[in-house]
Order: sequence, then structure tokens, then C-alpha cells
Amino acid sequence: MMARTGCRRAGLGLLVLVVAACDMTPEPGLARGKAVYGTCVPCHGATGGGNEELGAPSIAGLPQWYIEAQLEKFENGWRGAHPLDTVGIRMRSMANALDNPGDRASVAEYVAQMAPVNPEPMLQVGNAQAGATSFQTCIACHGPDGTGVEVLNAPPLVGQADWYLLAQLRKFRAGWRGTHPQDVSGATMRPNSLLLDDAAMENVVAYIQTLQ
Ligand code: HEC
Ligand code: HEC
Repeated sequence: MMARTGCRRAGLGLLVLVVAACDMTPEPGLARGKAVYGTCVPCHGATGGGNEELGAPSIAGLPQWYIEAQLEKFENGWRGAHPLDTVGIRMRSMANALDNPGDRASVAEYVAQMAPVNPEPMLQVGNAQAGATSFQTCIACHGPDGTGVEVLNAPPLVGQADWYLLAQLRKFRAGWRGTHPQDVSGATMRPNSLLLDDAAMENVVAYIQTLQ
């Protein structure tokens, strides 16, 4: 397939001028998103199901608005910037590499239309019954079925790897996520993590696994 650029057809005589003025920015959209996604495959996998060893979550089928927002947070250093967050830093360098205007939206659009991959439960910890009680506080934002609520910027929790959910709850509690002064939506999540000790986090994650 020919690379699509912002260049327009022009007469041969104008070629030199056109090349000089040519806008080489790739045209945004699904085709560009698919091409950019090639750079995500080493960690998130060809089907977007993630990779536990690398700490990379399942992203296939996440809403476009959430993917875009997170890529922006990584790039702005609101996420993946704490010196101890070695796993988050891996992702941050990737978000920084999305140089072309429109690439963030294009890759988010592409990932959002991929078929969701529900990773198998990996953790052998937590009591789902006990977690059901704490989950009552989560439904205000993530919805009763844990599928997320866009107007509150709250992402789906169902269909996500248990080890990843637990890791993120710990990051919020440790202040590695949701503490940057400009990270308004992260700040709405963080207080919820502060209410949970390790056992309560494991329990609520075990409960979320029963929702899928
Ligand atoms: C070098 C490995 C690596 C590559 C390459 C990579 N990621 Fe990630 N990604 C991660 C890791 C690790 C995390 C989890 C970060 C954390 O724990 O905060 C992550 C998290 C994310 C999240 C947040 C998901 C959520 O539920 O909050 C999104 C969205 C994402 N990546 C999209 C992408 C896209 C799009 C690309 C390609 C442009 C990409 N990633 C490339 C490793 C990678
Ligand atoms: C006041 C609203 C609110 C409540 C209540 C809330 N959350 Fe959240 N949660 C959010 C928002 C907003 C985000 C996205 C933050 C961001 O953009 O970084 C989020 C993100 C998360 C994430 C990260 C998901 C990912 O893909 O990286 C997890 C895990 C999570 N919440 C779990 C919970 C659990 C468990 C509860 C209940 C104990 C809960 N939340 C209660 C608003 C809330």
C-alpha cells in the first residue's frame, strides 16, 4: 500500500516546489493506527491481550477516550514518571515516541476497535465475597457491572488482568498515579485506593474477576 501523506497531486512542473512544501504528516485514521500499533506489539501483543512478565495490560477494546487520555498522561509525566515505577516508565517512553500529530488518536481508535481479550485470572489470592462489599464504593464511578462511565473518566475494570488491577490500586495508593496537580481524573480515583489495605485490594480484585 502506498504511504498516505498530506501531499496533494500536482503537475510535474510544480514537483520541486511541491516537495519543498510537502506536508509529510501521515493522515490520521485507522490505517495509520494499525501501522503505529506495530510498535505496541512487543509488549501488548498482536491481539492486545497484554503480557504479565512485562507488566503490560490488556488494552484491546478499551474505550478510545480512555486510551487517548492515558497516552497523554504518560506523555505529560502524570503517569509512569515516579523513579520507582520501573514498569510505568516502560510505557512512558512509548507514549513519548508518538511524535506525529494525530498518532495518539489514530492508535487509540485502532486499539478501541480490536476484539477484547479477557486475560485468565493469575492471582491465587483474595476473597471475592468480601470484595463484593468494597465494590459497592466503586460502582459510583465504574458502574454496577464495572464496565466504566465515560462522563466520570472511569475506565472499564471488567476484562482486565487481575495482576494489573492490583498493581494499579497499589500505584494509586503509593502516589505513583493520581497525584500530579493537573491530573484531575486521577485525583478522583486515588482516595478510593487509600481506603483499601492489601487484603481489601486483593478481595475487590477477586470480586471484579467474577463480573466477567
Ligand atoms: C516496552 C513495552 C510497552 C510498549 C512497547 C507499549 N506499552 Fe503500553 N504499557 C506498558 C506497560 C508496562 C503498561 C502499564 C504501565 C503501568 O503499570 O502504569 C502499559 C500501559 C498502557 C496503557 C494503559 C492501560 C490502562 O488500562 O490504563 C495504554 C492505553 C497503553 N499502554 C497503550 C499502548 C500503546 C497504544 C502502545 C503503542 C503505541 C504501547 N502501549 C506500547 C508497556 C508498553
Ligand atoms: C470517584 C470516582 C471513582 C471511584 C469511586 C472509584 N474509581 Fe477507580 N478510577 C476512577 C477514575 C476516574 C479512573 C481513571 C484514572 C486515570 O485516568 O488515571 C480510575 C481508575 C481505576 C483503576 C485503573 C484502571 C486501569 O485500567 O488502569 C482501577 C484498578 C480502579 N480505578 C479501581 C477502582 C476500585 C477497585 C474502586 C472501588 C474500591 C474504584 N476504582 C473506585 C474513578 C473512581
